Amino acid sequence: MTITLIKRATLLNEGIRQQGDLLIADGRIQKIAPQIDAPDGAEIIHAEGKLLIPGMIDDQVHFREPGLTHKGNILSESRAAVAGGITSFMEMPNVNPQTTNAEALEAKYRRAAEVSVANYAFYLGATNDNLEEIRTLDPQAACGIKIFMGASTGNMLVDNRETLEAIFANAKIPVVTHCEDTPMIDANEAAARAKYGEAVPVKLHGEIRSREACLKSTKMAIELAKAHGTRLHVLHISTADELALFEAHKSLDSLAEANITAEACVHHLFFSDADYDTLGTQIKCNPSVKTERDRQALLDAVKRDVIDVIATDHAPHTWEEKQNTYFKAPSGVPLVQHALLSLLEHVHDGVLTLESVVQKTSHAVAERFNLKERGYLREGYHADLVLIDLEKPYPVNKDNLLYKCHWSPFEGYTFRSTIAATWVGGVLAYDGREVISDPVGQRLVFNR
Ligand code: DOR
Repeated sequence: MTITLIKRATLLNEGIRQQGDLLIADGRIQKIAPQIDAPDGAEIIHAEGKLLIPGMIDDQVHFREPGLTHKGNILSESRAAVAGGITSFMEMPNVNPQTTNAEALEAKYRRAAEVSVANYAFYLGATNDNLEEIRTLDPQAACGIKIFMGASTGNMLVDNRETLEAIFANAKIPVVTHCEDTPMIDANEAAARAKYGEAVPVKLHGEIRSREACLKSTKMAIELAKAHGTRLHVLHISTADELALFEAHKSLDSLAEANITAEACVHHLFFSDADYDTLGTQIKCNPSVKTERDRQALLDAVKRDVIDVIATDHAPHTWEEKQNTYFKAPSGVPLVQHALLSLLEHVHDGVLTLESVVQKTSHAVAERFNLKERGYLREGYHADLVLIDLEKPYPVNKDNLLYKCHWSPFEGYTFRSTIAATWVGGVLAYDGREVISDPVGQRLVFNR
């Protein structure tokens, strides 16, 4: 049994910062105290001046396995995740074959058990005809049910109103939605094509996948959830306009019980349409990156708890695929390795607090999905931990990228913080330079 004692870190948990020691044994946080004597054989980590927080739990990633493994796979992307301080991930169903039944889900869990360095869970994808799978789903078999209420990578659009009603009525676990109105987007695409042919400038992406399309679809999801009492989590909110919808329906209940919650993603908090000129299709994603005003409104909504959870929507595509013209370049950005670091930039800028970053990336996700014994620095909980050096800059370059696609929109950027170490279930997975662990990720368990 490995015993690790982390000494004199600044522990940040549930809004409280204190200097202290944390003892890991048997994969769990054994003890937290101002001073702990080292047990025999303990490995000691001197962490003075560094910040120790619960690992990020990313509720929205695309790791591309099975079937799209030229873009990424569970091994490569989970390694990148732990290097970025993400200790658990929840993965999306738009792979090949799609994850739309219990068998496909279990195949993914089996694969993850063999190769994943981080803890894992998978979504069941809704389709226009798999209601029976949704009805009979074992609540431990998936973190949630994903509905593409707007078409995106992978042809999983569910656009039949009756089907949507039935899914919302029958879901026993959280429903998570991608909200963009496809007919509106189709019309905008046709207009852009009529004007520019194939040479549509990428910077029009924010207007083509428009704010109106997001607003209409998000409104519909909220209506459906209210009508059926569904536990709805709307993914990747990208506009100021949608935020008003969540202010109005903000639940006073605990997040674990809340009916309607909202997620923002790190790229919508970091980039704006001003960045299309330099980054082009690298930041083409769905929903699109919108204006600086939207970005500011999202950051403000994080501060005011209108946004509950922050995730990545990590969606790698190859560099070659991304070099295509506007319509042919696929949407999606690889993000897991730099998600926490990018959020800490907002802390360095005085825009977000560390407390709020920890709340939105860890505690709130654990609550929303009813995760068992994860997401907090608490004695008895799994030792999923990240040690951060807030004073040490971290330059992003090709040499330190771990994604299979081997590019990042952050290349050439230097973050003001560094991930100094990541533990997954008490095992040192990343030592600040390299991913050093075997596949130690565990299947996430839910209090359901
Ligand atoms: O930009 C995106 N990429 N949005 C999605 O909804 C899907 C994702 C992907 O899988 O590439």
